[in-house]
Amino acid sequence: MAKLVLNDDEVELEDGSELKEPCEEAGVPFACTEGVCGTCVIEVKEGKENLSEMTQEELDFLGETDDERLACQCKIKQGTVKIDY
Ligand code: FES
Repeated sequence: MAKLVLNDDEVELEDGSELKEPCEEAGVPFACTEGVCGTCVIEVKEGKENLSEMTQEELDFLGETDDERLACQCKIKQGTVKIDY
């Protein structure tokens, strides 16, 4: 099981789950869901190594960054990831 910590809420997720649904439930805004608009930018506080590789859309939008991701594009591989938005 993987764990997503968003502000002070914790959600248990299957390894390999998309972040979109738990983030949406926690109030992260989404629009395009295709990695184009940047509405769903989240800040990764801890555990970025537990997220999937950045997609081409994320690289195009965010560039090489260590602590920002597009929630509509990433998956949690395992372990704990702490995010903020
Ligand atoms: S919702 Fe548009 S980039 Fe994620």
